[in-house]
Amino acid sequence: MSKTKIIIANWKMKVPHQGAANLLRRFSHLSFPAGIEAVVCPDFLALPLAAKTLSLRKLKLGAQDAAFIDRGAYTGEISPTDIKSLGATYVILGHSERRQYLGETDALINKKLQAVLAVPGLIPVVCVGEKARGKNPKAVLQKQLAGAFKDIRLKPGQRLVVAYEPVWAIGTGRVIKRSEVVLAHLLILGWLTKRFSPTQCQVLYGGSVDAKNAANFSDISVVDGLLVGGASLEPKSFLTICRSMLK
Ligand code: PGA
Repeated sequence: MSKTKIIIANWKMKVPHQGAANLLRRFSHLSFPAGIEAVVCPDFLALPLAAKTLSLRKLKLGAQDAAFIDRGAYTGEISPTDIKSLGATYVILGHSERRQYLGETDALINKKLQAVLAVPGLIPVVCVGEKARGKNPKAVLQKQLAGAFKDIRLKPGQRLVVAYEPVWAIGTGRVIKRSEVVLAHLLILGWLTKRFSPTQCQVLYGGSVDAKNAANFSDISVVDGLLVGGASLEPKSFLTICRSMLK
């Protein structure tokens, strides 16, 4: 059974708050093809506005991070329950930029994953990926997966998403080879399906995906969707990427 492909727009911290309303309005006019679950992840400040502007039947909302605990004296943190109640369905966790600039470890990502999975209806998108190209990513991926998913159990019906994002391909324009994607996705999928039901897991690719190269991923059966950064800031490009994945 082929799963609905998930295409996630990760706006990072690239949209000034004054520009968010306009960009969200432009996204709200897009019609996404059936067979695609399109997801927009604005920054936290724009999340309430996104929930008001977008039709959540056409487009899902996601957050770019979440706290490792749901409530308490944790200055500056954002509760997974509040993320869900604002209308988000997905939460990106452990993005390489957070690992690199904020020192997030696999152990912290594991705690965040537990906090997110404790909120019914919230779906984590756990990012993994090696820093340098050329070396077999196997050891890095296995270590990141083992750390992030330590003691994680899924309830029936619960879903999880892993995004394979090689750091060397993020924001660099370096296009990954088909063989590299297949190898990493098979490894991740194999690792996940030893522990969870295959119907509960999806693996996305991310790293310099754009309107021109997205079609390269459409017929790779182990690629269940894409996580798009830079190219997701242009609504037409994002729509082209979504359409390309159905070809
Ligand atoms: P990019 O970012 O598409 O700009 O390479 C992807 C990501 O970091 O999620």
